[in-house]
Amino acid sequence: MDAGRSAPPELRESVELTTAAAMPADRGAADRRELVGEHEAGGGPASAPLIVADELTKVYDTVAATRALSDVTFDVHAGEFAAIVGQSGSGKSTLLNLLGLLDTPTEGRVLVEGRETAAAGRRGRAVLRNQYLGFVFQFHHLLPESSVLENVVMPALIAEGVEMDAHERRRRALDVLGMLGLEAVAEKNANQLSGGQKQRVAIARALMNRPPVILADEPTGDLDTENSAAVYRLFREINADLGTTFLIVTHDRGIAEQTDRIIEVVDGELVQDVRNTYLDRR
Ligand SMILES: Nc1ncnc2c1ncn2[C@@H]1O[C@H](COP(=O)(O)OP(=O)(O)OP(=O)(O)O)[C@@H](O)[C@H]1O
Ligand SMILES: [Mg+2]
Repeated sequence: MDAGRSAPPELRESVELTTAAAMPADRGAADRRELVGEHEAGGGPASAPLIVADELTKVYDTVAATRALSDVTFDVHAGEFAAIVGQSGSGKSTLLNLLGLLDTPTEGRVLVEGRETAAAGRRGRAVLRNQYLGFVFQFHHLLPESSVLENVVMPALIAEGVEMDAHERRRRALDVLGMLGLEAVAEKNANQLSGGQKQRVAIARALMNRPPVILADEPTGDLDTENSAAVYRLFREINADLGTTFLIVTHDRGIAEQTDRIIEVVDGELVQDVRNTYLDRR
C-alpha cells in the first residue's frame, strides 16, 4: 500500500506529518499524564460527539473519476479507541484524510466539536488540525537534516494559540522523547536513526501539542511484530491514562480486534460499525 497516494498537497506540506514507532512504555501513567496532558474521556452516548462524519462522499477528479467514499456517516466520541478496516483501495486513507481535515469532501460534512469545518476555510482547518489532531502515518515524514528535538518541537512552533517559550518547548519535547525512550538521540539528525527510532520520533511529534485525537494510518506497517505490539500497547496506555481518542487504520484484523470499535469500509461504503465485545468478555 502507499500511504502517500491519497495524500493531498496540503498534507505533504504539513510538518504535522508523522508515522509510527516502537517504544518501550518505560515511564508511568502519572508521567504521561503530566507530559501529554489529560483529556476529558467521555465516550458514552450521552456526550456530544468530538468528530462527526456526515454523509461523506469523496470523488477524486482524475481522468476516470474515482468515487473513493460514498455517504459515510458515523460519530466519534471523546476517549474512543477505534479501528478502521478494509481492503486495499477501499477508502480508509481517504476517510482518515477527511476526518483529519487534510482534504475536503466532495459532498457531506466533517464536524469537530459541533463546528462546521468547511466553514472554517483552509486556514481555520489548519488551526483546528493543530488544536485537535495528531497524525501518525506509516512513513514518518521527518525532516531528515534536522535534529530529533527540532522535529519534535515543530508542531508547537506552528500551533496558533499555544503560548510556549523556547525553553518550555524544549522541556516538553525532551519529556515526550523520554517517554518514548529517545532521550539519548535527541541531538542526532533524524537521518542518523534506525527505522524504529524514526517512527518513535514521529509519535513523539504527534504527541507534542497534546492533541485530544490521534489519527493513525497503518502506523505499524513498517514494523516487525514485536515493535508493532509495543506501539499498540503505548497507544492503549495513552488512551486509558489521558482519554486521548484514537482512530487507527489497519489491514490487520488481529490489531483491529484489540480495539473497542471496528469501522469497516468496502468499496468506499461503511458496511459495519460495531463495538468490539471481544474485550468485554476477557
Ligand atoms: N489522490 C488521489 N487521486 C485519485 N485517486 C485516488 C487518490 N487517492 C486515493 N485514490 C483512489 O481512491 C480509492 C481509495 O483509496 P485509499 O487510498 O483511500 O484506499 P485505502 O483503503 O487507504 O487503501 P490502502 O489499504 O492500500 O492504503 C482507490 O481507488 C484509490 O486509487
Ligand atoms: Mg491507505
